[in-house]
Amino acid sequence: EHIYIGVDLGGTTIKVGICNEVGQLLHTYEGPTEVEKGADTVVSNIEKYVRLIVEQSPYAWDQLKGVGAGVAGFTNVRDGIIIFAPNVGLKDVHIRSILEQRLGKPVRIDNDANVAALGEVWSGAGKGVNNCVCYTLGTGVGGGIIINGAIYQGFAGLAGELGHMSVVPDLEAIQCGCGKVGCLETVSSATGVIRMAKDAVERGERTSLSQVETIMAKDVFDAAKLGDEVAIRIVKRAAYYLGKSMAAVSAVLNPQRFIVGGGVSKAGDILFDEIRLVYARLTPEPLMKEVDIVPAILGNDAGMIGAAGLFIH
Ligand code: BGC
Ligand code: NA
Ligand code: ZN
Repeated sequence: EHIYIGVDLGGTTIKVGICNEVGQLLHTYEGPTEVEKGADTVVSNIEKYVRLIVEQSPYAWDQLKGVGAGVAGFTNVRDGIIIFAPNVGLKDVHIRSILEQRLGKPVRIDNDANVAALGEVWSGAGKGVNNCVCYTLGTGVGGGIIINGAIYQGFAGLAGELGHMSVVPDLEAIQCGCGKVGCLETVSSATGVIRMAKDAVERGERTSLSQVETIMAKDVFDAAKLGDEVAIRIVKRAAYYLGKSMAAVSAVLNPQRFIVGGGVSKAGDILFDEIRLVYARLTPEPLMKEVDIVPAILGNDAGMIGAAGLFIH
């Protein structure tokens, strides 16, 4: 029996999972990324966790046929290079060749949201849908475009960077980690939600939110569910720009389904109802026909499954 490992390389944790040939997740392991120690440590950590998980599993090293990795940043898929990962703090890392050398196994890399999209299409909310677009709302906003069942890579492998669609009007726009202004990510990521909450508290607005130093996106969603007006306004603002970006994406690609995952999608109905409302208001009727906007279902596993899937499918 052959096994494959999917690696989900994020800013705080590295998740590794063993998958069988049909993409079932059999074992998982997770450890710190340790970005602050530099790129060498990050790559060594991946190697360490990959070796560890195989040791801890009933499988032998020889059964491992490939390691796929989803990276939270701009990735050059063809050459296996992390060009720039704003939220991970990595730049120009030739990750594929280094890992192949250290592990002695074939390695493939892709963007984290691209592989999550693949995971959802293979065994999640996009099963049977060959043209769909996924958003992952976490520390950043990631995107994955699936056309005819495959990831659309674009010219340099950078297609689907939906978090950097500039959607916020200039006057309200703030700077993004990518260096530009007005990116969707500045509003619709967990980071954006937290920033908006802090601003509101600091402006002295009437809200149940407090403790700005430790506030988390989930606190904002909980408050919104309990009817806190400020929290509701923040969630709706995150939703507004998502809906607006989906209207633009529809006009370009006409996907059948939008899948929304990541921590911020846990805001639930308040978020999704508003996204659907805005999307319906901004999208021409024929482009909306039979199109739906649904939550992702693989949760935190999508990245590992999709990354292993770079080999399996
Ligand atoms: C990066 C993307 C990534 C996303 C989610 C964005 O800031 O540019 O490459 O997919 O965050 O991790
Ligand atoms: Na992407
Ligand atoms: Zn940006």
